[in-house]
Amino acid sequence: MTSRPPILKAVIPAAGLGTRFLPATKAVPKELLPILDKPALQYVVEEAAEAGIQQVIIVIAPGKESIVAYFQPDPALERRLTASGAQDLSQQVHHASHLAQVSFVIQQQPLGLGHAVLMAKQAVGNEPFVVMLPDDIVSHTPGVVAQMLEVYRKFGGAVVAVAETPWESVHNYGVVAATPAGERVHRVRGLVEKPPREQAPSNLAIVGRYLLPPEIFDCLERTPPGAKGEIQLTDGMALLLENHALYACQFQGRRYDTGTPLGLLRASLEFALAREDTRESAQAMLKGLL
Ligand code: G1P
Repeated sequence: MTSRPPILKAVIPAAGLGTRFLPATKAVPKELLPILDKPALQYVVEEAAEAGIQQVIIVIAPGKESIVAYFQPDPALERRLTASGAQDLSQQVHHASHLAQVSFVIQQQPLGLGHAVLMAKQAVGNEPFVVMLPDDIVSHTPGVVAQMLEVYRKFGGAVVAVAETPWESVHNYGVVAATPAGERVHRVRGLVEKPPREQAPSNLAIVGRYLLPPEIFDCLERTPPGAKGEIQLTDGMALLLENHALYACQFQGRRYDTGTPLGLLRASLEFALAREDTRESAQAMLKGLL
């Protein structure tokens, strides 16, 4: 296998307005809403760390500074918890702020996902990196990024995560036109953001994980506003495709869309049923409800 430049940085766009969670998001960024006891965002940072990512760059919007606070170490709180016998909690607090080196960049205006990623250009520099959308949580070991790194090691190029989606919902996603290249791997020939069902080239929808070369930034600088009048990452990748190979990784694992209240509720229920410490109570609770 050819050796490739290592992937050490992840960009996590977290600058969205969170309108689907209003009024809660008046005060709490949606990325900090919990699945059980941990913010959705932390699951994503954990997935990055598991795949060997050392530096996480979070793109936030003005007013979302509590995300910065969340990742700051809090030794005083850790000491208080330890002193009161809550070692477990103390360790969890410590763990959350030591997963990776986390830094922040600000997107001043909500001009789209592609624009948010472009804000991280300087912080990423001249190396390949991953982009992880925190609305998409996938429970699987190894995580999606680790699975994509395998594809990258084998095939090189850029990699995007995809999942087969019911045709009636393809218009909600970026969609790829692709031909088989290996087990659960496709070579991407084209991609389009939120196509009407009859124009979708396939039902392979993009899930929020991307492994990209630094050339994507030049592409994003040349990308005009697209769907919803926003600068779309999918459109930037369509430009990238002119000079770069792009592979789609049909990952293993169950995907949760935590970008809607019911999606977040579903993830919370399923995680509670899967976790040993909460399984029995969650089962009893659901039986009682039904
Ligand atoms: C974004 C991307 C889209 C992708 C989706 C995955 O859309 O633009 O290509 O399929 O995430 O969750 P959004 O959900 O921000 O509308």
